[in-house]
Amino acid sequence: YEADHMKVELQSEVGEKMKIGLYFAIWWSLNVVFNIYNKKVLNAFPFPWLTSTLSLGAGSLIMLVSWGTKVVEAPKTDVEFWKTLFPVALAHTIGHVAATISMSKVAVSFTHIIKSSEPAFSVFVSKFFLGETFPIGVYLSLLPIIGGCALSAFTELNFNMTGFMGAMISNLAFVFRNIFSKKGMKGKSVSGMNYYACLSMLSLLILTPFAIAMEGPQMWEAGWQTALTQIGPNFVWWVVAQSVFYHLYNQVSYMSLDQISPLTFSVGNTMKRISVIVSSIIIFHTPVQPVNALGAAIAILGTFVYSQEEEVGRQRPATTSYYMSSSF
Ligand code: 3PG
Repeated sequence: YEADHMKVELQSEVGEKMKIGLYFAIWWSLNVVFNIYNKKVLNAFPFPWLTSTLSLGAGSLIMLVSWGTKVVEAPKTDVEFWKTLFPVALAHTIGHVAATISMSKVAVSFTHIIKSSEPAFSVFVSKFFLGETFPIGVYLSLLPIIGGCALSAFTELNFNMTGFMGAMISNLAFVFRNIFSKKGMKGKSVSGMNYYACLSMLSLLILTPFAIAMEGPQMWEAGWQTALTQIGPNFVWWVVAQSVFYHLYNQVSYMSLDQISPLTFSVGNTMKRISVIVSSIIIFHTPVQPVNALGAAIAILGTFVYSQEEEVGRQRPATTSYYMSSSF
């Protein structure tokens, strides 16, 4: 009986690991495809406000059709749900537009190197806004994160202030999004997939008027014609790909958040950035200086150390709010 019991336990452990591995593989692949097409589109059509809106629009459409055709059961929501979702959607919108503006100005790899410092933002926000304290190991892990990012930024060949600030604002906004969305998802019956669907829809409503004000149909029309002449009809598919893949990778990441611990999630997110950085450097032939790459490596290593240290802190009894403040 004992042996059987152990066998079943081992099988379920292996199954669990395989499931997480599969989630990660899908999440990273979708994210790499999104980043590549997003940059291809932005190179030919530099309108980040519109491309961000289209990503949210594609997601909203996909989910409305899925609900309408009953492929996915629509969630039962009330006014309270949408009210709680509003700050999450606002932060999601700001973080998304800021990251896209950043990628329209600098190499994809540079945006993601800066974005790998998100844990540092998480610690600052939790400390100064929520009054949390962390074990010393967490603070120490911020040194390589901040130092590595700074080294990479200073040695970046195509440094651009808007590109840098966009990634920094995105970090700050996403930390707030993560804190609010964990609060909102806790104890609610809405699944990760439907939660992200509602988030896309509300973000789309918030973003559309701003996109029109910042860029607007006249600029889009002219830019679209230029891009079509330059690239040919395939350009339309690039736009479709960046929009659909944006939705898919985010949906998978929200679905996996339902299944895995915040630690596993944040380690997964950092590894996702490595795959994006490496593949975008190869595909776009981004010039990298050795010292630049060293900075990125130090920052990413720091993020791994951070995750471990934060987990140690979370396991201590009196620190109940670690779960919410962890970056994902
Ligand atoms: C965006 O456009 O929202 C960003 O590229 C997303 O960045 P993430 O890797 O943090 O999801």
